[in-house]
Amino acid sequence: MGLFDEMLKDNESLFKNEIALSFDFHPKPLKFRDIEQKQMAISIRPLFQGRDGTHLLVHGKPGIGKTIAVKQVLQELDELEEDVEILPIYINCWQKNTTYKIVLEICEKIGYRLIQSKKTEELLKIIVQKLNKSNVVFAFDEIDKVEDYDFLYTFLEQIYRKTILLISNYKEWLIQLDPRIKSRLNPQLLDFKTYNDMETRGILEQRKEFAFFPGVWDNEAFELVVHKTFLQKDIRAGLHLMKTAGLISEDVASRKIKKNHVNAAIKKLDELAVKDLGLEEERQFILNIVKLNSGKKTGDLYKVYQENNGKASYKTFRRKIDDLEKGKFVSVKTIPGGDGGSTSIVTYKSVKKLTDF
Ligand SMILES: Nc1ncnc2c1ncn2[C@@H]1O[C@H](COP(=O)(O)OP(=O)(O)OP(=O)(O)O)[C@@H](O)[C@H]1O
Ligand SMILES: [Mg+2]
Repeated sequence: MGLFDEMLKDNESLFKNEIALSFDFHPKPLKFRDIEQKQMAISIRPLFQGRDGTHLLVHGKPGIGKTIAVKQVLQELDELEEDVEILPIYINCWQKNTTYKIVLEICEKIGYRLIQSKKTEELLKIIVQKLNKSNVVFAFDEIDKVEDYDFLYTFLEQIYRKTILLISNYKEWLIQLDPRIKSRLNPQLLDFKTYNDMETRGILEQRKEFAFFPGVWDNEAFELVVHKTFLQKDIRAGLHLMKTAGLISEDVASRKIKKNHVNAAIKKLDELAVKDLGLEEERQFILNIVKLNSGKKTGDLYKVYQENNGKASYKTFRRKIDDLEKGKFVSVKTIPGGDGGSTSIVTYKSVKKLTDF
């Protein structure tokens, strides 16, 4: 055996197509979500018959294919060559978190440009008029991040033929919704379950084939990625790991991605997660408060926050708690009660790193 056979040459790469490991890459076909996508198709079907559609709250943990499954359904609608015109509109409410921003986004999507000096109300009216010329499927992703629901109320009331898909990590989001909206929306729940071991392997296998040249992954190394991803219950962790392990192997000019490269990748990602949190001083501050007062209600935590010179509004504070939950640093449990509404209990979770598993 030649001494250099195992060595990657300068101009060689293990990656066939690195982009396939990015989070917004759309692998086709999308595996293991046929049942959920069928459910969405059923809620859209009435639009083809000139009737109003039904609405869905798509919910489940982070990184399990909610966004990608919805986006692919919308894309199929866009490509349909039917007599009935159905307009798909996808909005990420984390980025567009007010009625005004959502309205501007829709104006842009439908090519309406005369927005200058028009108020939200006026623009809403124009949009409704234009959208009523066809059938609409709305997808409002990260719906729990919006600050007001005027747009939702208006669309429910004034758009005749629509299906509204709402996506969130929390199905409890429904509880706190204004009853006027809740009764009009009356959504069915579409529960996305986490992937089992076999499904996790299948998804990562597919990405591996898109992203890497054949044979570069050592079997044991790949199985380690699958195992860690399954425990983490988030496909993003697997994509991260595959990419980082690939880059580490290239750095040491190895022709194979081996188990020790995956282990190094796992360590690296943990450091990153800690650093990420460190960057956000405010979040770290709030996390510390939760840590010292684990199991208390959000209102009480906010009081402690203010007593310690926290300056953000309750709404912002609440949003940061939700972010912390999303990052799995705390857990939030909504329970009925309080002043006629609901209240949430926040518990500190000792940070689970990939190396903890
Ligand atoms: N069935 C699948 N097939 C292929 N890739 C998948 C599948 N499910 C998830 N993924 C990949 O996992 C990543 C996360 O998926 P997605 O963005 O849809 O998660 P999500 O459920 O919307 O999470 P969040 O609640 O954090 O928004 C994406 O890069 C996506 O490509
Ligand atoms: Mg998503």
